[in-house]
Amino acid sequence: MTTTTAPPDWTRVDTGWGRRAAEFASLSEPGNCREYVAVHHVLGLDHGDRLLDVACGAGLALELAALRGATCAGIDASPRLVAVARDRSPGADVRVGDMHALPWPDASFDAVTSFRGVWGTTPEAPAEIRRVLVPGGRVAITVWGHVKASPGAWALAPFRLAAEPQVAHQAAMVALGRPGIGEALLARHGFVDVRRVVVPFAWEFPDPATYARTLASTGPAYEAIEAVGEAAFLRSATDVAAARVRDGLPLRAEIEVVCLLARAPGGDR
Ligand SMILES: C[S@@+](CC[C@H](N)C(=O)[O-])C[C@H]1O[C@@H](n2cnc3c(N)ncnc32)[C@H](O)[C@@H]1O
Repeated sequence: MTTTTAPPDWTRVDTGWGRRAAEFASLSEPGNCREYVAVHHVLGLDHGDRLLDVACGAGLALELAALRGATCAGIDASPRLVAVARDRSPGADVRVGDMHALPWPDASFDAVTSFRGVWGTTPEAPAEIRRVLVPGGRVAITVWGHVKASPGAWALAPFRLAAEPQVAHQAAMVALGRPGIGEALLARHGFVDVRRVVVPFAWEFPDPATYARTLASTGPAYEAIEAVGEAAFLRSATDVAAARVRDGLPLRAEIEVVCLLARAPGGDR
């Protein structure tokens, strides 16, 4: 008799996040550039820093970190996004894997970033981040802040076309951004000097169709597409954006993103 074991959950992430890897890399990820630049700055990323980016996606943040002189490593659950990250940064150590079992020894990194990759639904991920940081090492984790109060909330609205359990899961993820919640999680994992800053975040698109195509390349969009079909998703997203068109200006969606900053205990300040 043969027994089969179901593959772990993280290996299914690629189904949604990897299916349009080239579009995610070239249409969606560049829209996050303000966030990457601001976080690298506030982290004081510099020459000689050994950096790990957790849930690195297609690796644009890693490429920018290398421009500051950091030695870069990354990990993501999606092999198709990791393929793009490796293509962008051939010298970086980019691996396919799970953020809950980082394949590096203890104290391997001076700094760890995660751009909207660690969530309320991954409460044990900070333990692994702390393990791979040197004493005194810095961590920066970004999450959506107060989305409903953000002028660009409309740009995330089509994700709610997903089935009810997925929408509830999205809400549980975003809960990490509520005041005090992310801070408490990092403190529970032994991090010190925990604080939050708001970082600039604005998506821009030339027209509603490009916005819809861009959004469709993301993981949460895949959940919505599974529920209503791709044509209905694109139609709904295009309609949402059509109401925001401004003569002679790009569509612009400013969304609050918060960055949780902390240090591993020990080391020199
Ligand atoms: C919101 S995207 C962020 C990607 C990238 N950091 C960026 O700024 O665009 C979330 C990422 O988390 C990855 N991911 C989801 N679950 C994961 C896990 N358990 N371990 C590692 N990566 C994971 C997805 O493949 C996806 O690339």
